[in-house]
Amino acid sequence: MNGPVAWISSPAGPLGGELDVPGDKSVSHRAIMLAALADGVSRIDGFLEGEDTRATAAAFARMGVQIETPTSSARIVHGVGMRGLKSANGPIDCGNAGTGMRLLAGLLAGQSFDSELIGDASLSRRPMGRIIDPLTSMGARIESGAGGLPPLRIHGRRRLQGMTFAPTVASAQVKSAILLAGLYAHGTTEVREAHPTRDYSERMLAAFGWPIEFSQGWARLPGNARLQATDIVVPADFSSAAFFLVAASIVPGSKLTLRAVGMNPRRTGLLEILRLMGADIVEVNRREQGGEWLADLHVSHAPLRGIDVPERCVADMIDEFPILFVAAATALGTTRIRGVAELRVKESDRLAVMAQGLASLGIAVTESADGADITGGTIGSGRIDSVGDHRIAMSFAVAGLLASGPVLIDDCATVATSFPGFLDLANACGFSISAT
Ligand code: S3P
Repeated sequence: MNGPVAWISSPAGPLGGELDVPGDKSVSHRAIMLAALADGVSRIDGFLEGEDTRATAAAFARMGVQIETPTSSARIVHGVGMRGLKSANGPIDCGNAGTGMRLLAGLLAGQSFDSELIGDASLSRRPMGRIIDPLTSMGARIESGAGGLPPLRIHGRRRLQGMTFAPTVASAQVKSAILLAGLYAHGTTEVREAHPTRDYSERMLAAFGWPIEFSQGWARLPGNARLQATDIVVPADFSSAAFFLVAASIVPGSKLTLRAVGMNPRRTGLLEILRLMGADIVEVNRREQGGEWLADLHVSHAPLRGIDVPERCVADMIDEFPILFVAAATALGTTRIRGVAELRVKESDRLAVMAQGLASLGIAVTESADGADITGGTIGSGRIDSVGDHRIAMSFAVAGLLASGPVLIDDCATVATSFPGFLDLANACGFSISAT
């Protein structure tokens, strides 16, 4: 990232056109990791060329994995096998990526060398105790900074033992860290989730031939098998599509198509919520590709109304709350959100930053410990600090579309972690965002 970037998002629209948003971040991280450990050469198409996933690819390159970049959205990974990684000989920088750090921690706990994981200022504030504790129960030895924060020092040459684990937080990152450590453990590793989370690790392990069994909220695998190289096609990221689903829903006269969007049901909670609010979103051309469901999404403007967001939907839309706040700010009536304390430990405290940011633009928001009530109204012009959180920056860019005047958003460079090209794509379909 090159210095501070601010955006000015001005009222605009209607939005129109057909868009391809970039590849899924969660799938891209996992594809690099498993391809690196596989026997043989894997090709990944639709790879997210974002800073988070590039950091993960760079981590494996540092550990001796040859990775080619035939095009910006493809990677060819020369797998080194389960025991083929080498020490990176120095700290591995995971950048802004919680997924990168937590999954790597699980995987590196089973290696024959020591590793150190570091991250940027935001990642350095994110809790790692949630993976350190269960990994320690499996026999790993991981030292962290004060309070369970990064950096992580992961000791190698440990004898890991499989276990049955019931996470206390609904987190695919925690589940995945345990499953990846389980690849190197003696015996069986089992995860039982009270709230099922995205199952990309399970699906991808199966695609690479690991003898994993899984169903909704449950996964079990033995240690000491092998991964066979395979080709992966990464679907477009639903979380990136989400900004355009809300933008086209709220701006009168809009009609957008988002192509080939990943429709894993553990990711598409926002779709159900927007429809409950009155959105007009139609799925067409639903198809399966490499074990994942894709669809093209047609979204047209429709008046939204406030709802009570059912808590059962939270895990399925955990990354979409910032943009849901914006939808709620334009809806008729009040939207009530509860059970989202996890938002406080994302790339920023998303509950506080969204609640305070919308309030500063004139929207009535009441924030509580684990939720917020948002009453729709007129979004005013103003200045927002995105606090370097990519999803906050993009959410307020969408808010600018319907505001009474320009919304200036500070600290937008981190949008490149998950959605490089957002600005150009948004402007091409009718936004009016300028970077300063
Ligand atoms: C992710 C899981 C979620 C999500 C993150 C990606 C993953 O995090 O917020 O953007 O790829 O497993 P948690 O596991 O912390 O809920």
